[in-house]
Amino acid sequence: MKLRYQNQCADVVLGMAFGDEGKGKVVDYLAKNYDYVVRFNGGNNAGHSLKVGDFKTSVHALPSGVLHPHVFNVIGNGCVVNPNQLAEEIQKIGVQNLQRRVFVSHAAHVITPQHIEEDCKGGSKERIGTTGRGIGPTYAAKMNRTGLRMDDLLKGAGRDLFSSDVLDIVLPLITDTTEVLKRACDSGAKILLEGAQGCGLDIDHGTYPYVTSSNCSVAGALSGTGLSHKNIRHVIGVTKAYSTRVGEGPFPSEVFGEEAERLRAAGNEYGTTTGRPRRVGWLDAKQLREACEMNGVDQLVVTKLDVLSGLPHVEMKMGDESRRVYPCWRPFPQTTESYSDIPAEARDFIDGIEEVASVPVTHVSISPDRSGTLFRSMVLEEAA
Ligand code: IMP
Repeated sequence: MKLRYQNQCADVVLGMAFGDEGKGKVVDYLAKNYDYVVRFNGGNNAGHSLKVGDFKTSVHALPSGVLHPHVFNVIGNGCVVNPNQLAEEIQKIGVQNLQRRVFVSHAAHVITPQHIEEDCKGGSKERIGTTGRGIGPTYAAKMNRTGLRMDDLLKGAGRDLFSSDVLDIVLPLITDTTEVLKRACDSGAKILLEGAQGCGLDIDHGTYPYVTSSNCSVAGALSGTGLSHKNIRHVIGVTKAYSTRVGEGPFPSEVFGEEAERLRAAGNEYGTTTGRPRRVGWLDAKQLREACEMNGVDQLVVTKLDVLSGLPHVEMKMGDESRRVYPCWRPFPQTTESYSDIPAEARDFIDGIEEVASVPVTHVSISPDRSGTLFRSMVLEEAA
């Protein structure tokens, strides 16, 4: 008997650290091969930057597949949604026919003005360094079973909290997205599940209490969509070539002073959502290895490699307090098209990442543009 519901229709993209790994860019790059891009956790605390040629934008609530005209974009049940912000983002992004390509889960919870007020006034904004977008209080209401869901809005409850202009945009998008995705999967569609934040901010597995309020790891991709683990094919981990963190909390590989200034400036490390300067540090090998292990990551994408070009040296922090120092490499053009054309020292660093993670690095990103993504696996296959 042929087992049903086992289509491996979905791949997952996850951040391996504290968010801001460049997942948006990676999802935008990969989306050409998928029919659906799905957000499964978080809300507009996320900020995913997208750049195609001269066109530059960032999305906060919308999935990062929006720039591909053939892609359906789903905000899953594991997300929390601020209708005001979603309506504004849909209007602002200026992509034609977007409204016909966005579905919002009826079971996603609504971020209300009261939740935002609570997040800003309750002290958590200072204590944890939250984004102040009402994320924590909305998830708390969900767990308390007192929350307002998109389905309630559809049925009339809570509509007084939002203007009719906003409701006109958002209400038609609400549907049972689990059904949409299951049907898509059954019919052979390809689905890309897009994580927000990163494993270090996972409510269960991150650096609690300095975390966000959702599961940013692979488990969230299931609970936040209703798909089965049998539907998952690849888990793609995204790591920056160095580390950043916004907000409070432990950051073992953090650097300070001039070294930090240089890294922050080179990487333009200021929050997409809040504009806050990000804390910066070297890549943390232990954190990366553990994130790969916990999530069953089977391929890695390393982003922002170009940022390390021209620095006096490059480091990687190992778990046992030791560090590996790599020789620097000369800056190379962001238009470089082939992995083998980047400096050998930079490729040695990527080999080092692959070794500590025990996961193949398939792509390396060398510029914010969609085109600045180099395929690497072929090089490995050729070498084998
Ligand atoms: P919240 O998600 O607004 O509750 O914030 C909780 C913690 O997660 C804070 O340290 C935030 O700075 C961090 N955080 C939330 N979203 C992101 C993100 O997209 N990138 C990086 N950090 C984030």
